[in-house]
Amino acid sequence: MSVPGEPPGQWEGVSRPLPELPEDVDDVFPDGAGATITPYRDGPLIVRGEFRLLDQDGGEIDPGRRTIALCRCGKSGLKPFCDGSHKRSGFSAPSTPSRPRPAQIVREGLGEA
Ligand code: FES
Repeated sequence: MSVPGEPPGQWEGVSRPLPELPEDVDDVFPDGAGATITPYRDGPLIVRGEFRLLDQDGGEIDPGRRTIALCRCGKSGLKPFCDGSHKRSGFSAPSTPSRPRPAQIVREGLGEA
């Protein structure tokens, strides 16, 4: 699969090429334990480290690699993985929360209210 403006072959595989990553990210969990999830500005959720990816029935989804990009724009043709469609769709989102989450909303989201 090729994407206009992108080098040929760059979009092959489960996940599309990752955005430029911080160099020190592998130092977060030097022993390989744990994972980080990073919302990239105007892009996917980058998941790095030791993690399991499950569907809502508990079935294992093979991520195919240790670092993956999960779609958060809703436009990917490879959900739950990012396929780069966020760029074409003009998806826009900050990397950090645009406002604090009130405790009540968090509790309701967890089914605790
Ligand atoms: S975030 Fe990349 S396709 Fe949705």
